[in-house]
Amino acid sequence: MSASSAPTKRRDYRPETLLVQAGTLRSEFKETSEALFLTQGYIYDSAEDCEARFSGKIPGYVYSRYSNPTMSMFEQRMAALEGAEAARSTATGMAAVTTALMGLVRAGDHIVAAKALFGSCRYVIEDWLGRFGVTSTLVDGRDLDAWKKAVTKNTKAFFLESPTNPTLEVVDIAEVAKIAHAAGAKLVVDNVFATPLYQSPLKLGADCVVYSATKHIDGQGRCLGGIILASEKFIMDHVHQVIRQTGPSLSPFNAWIMLKGLETLAVRVERQTATATRVADTLAGHPKIVRLMYPGRPDHPQADIIKKQMKAGSTICSFEVKGGKEGAFRFLNGLQLTGITNNLGDAKSLVTHPTTTTHQRLTPEQRAELGIGDGLVRFSAGLEHPDDVLEDLLTALDAV
Ligand SMILES: Cc1ncc(COP(=O)(O)O)c(C=O)c1O
Repeated sequence: MSASSAPTKRRDYRPETLLVQAGTLRSEFKETSEALFLTQGYIYDSAEDCEARFSGKIPGYVYSRYSNPTMSMFEQRMAALEGAEAARSTATGMAAVTTALMGLVRAGDHIVAAKALFGSCRYVIEDWLGRFGVTSTLVDGRDLDAWKKAVTKNTKAFFLESPTNPTLEVVDIAEVAKIAHAAGAKLVVDNVFATPLYQSPLKLGADCVVYSATKHIDGQGRCLGGIILASEKFIMDHVHQVIRQTGPSLSPFNAWIMLKGLETLAVRVERQTATATRVADTLAGHPKIVRLMYPGRPDHPQADIIKKQMKAGSTICSFEVKGGKEGAFRFLNGLQLTGITNNLGDAKSLVTHPTTTTHQRLTPEQRAELGIGDGLVRFSAGLEHPDDVLEDLLTALDAV
């Protein structure tokens, strides 16, 4: 059974088409749906063939820690969508973040990152990489001067997410990319909250994009995964060997789930954004809500940057409930439909209390600096009927 390329070689199709067709490899059986190559390794026709494949003299799959047809299909589909030359899939979003950063730095190097980050990303930069002699400076990502001032002669990487988790602040990616490049550093962007449909960091000047595929890409709560996208040179210089030799790889089974997830990404994200917009517009003036952040609303503090770098708002909306932690907990416990969790981007509507989950590790002062109050709740819109979701949220707010 030899895999052959499917007809979808064009990369200029619209995203909705690429999501369904790009990267498909068809075997001699001409299956409609992508095949799941659940294999650890491959058999070679001869010892000479084995030697040549191993040395890279002839192309072909070698070992599923770093090459597998189902993983390739996922990587190629994502690369087409993102406008990237190359991609490598990973076991989780955190494996993608850690691999991309570890591939860029060595002992003595320095990273500049935005302060407003998913808790584990901040841990990797501040604590984990620090163990290996990599120093870091965290800045207010909105303050371009702060990025410039943080640069040292050893700065090799810039890291940011936009919109940020959970406060949905926005960082000007094109401007930060210019500062990184002037400093001789590479910019890595975690694009989870924007999804590949709403923001293309590589086109804005970033050198590398990472995703937790666990979120919208699977989007149905089944498995974890991640992906790193960049130029062929970036992947070969900084990513390929880290994955090949250290093994933070995606399983072929999970790659297959992600491929099937991508097929419905556009319809899901579109519907979830419509629900999130309705929720944001309804709750914005609600008497039990102190503050609401939604990148799709004109009152977002960085609406001008959003207009410049994003195609649409978000499937996520964050708001501060009156009464601090007590108020937020009363609200969460009053929900009947929306699930309490730390996850997002799912078919099911979900809420998270960042102070006690994703951002628990930060001190109260660090959280306050980021605008993560004890009453803050992050809402991730699902695919239920929007009226039911809204009724659930409004009924729970009555309990506050
Ligand atoms: C912005 C962001 N980046 C990275 C991750 C990590 O992804 P994973 O849970 O797949 O490791 C998350 C998870 O919540 C996230 O929200």
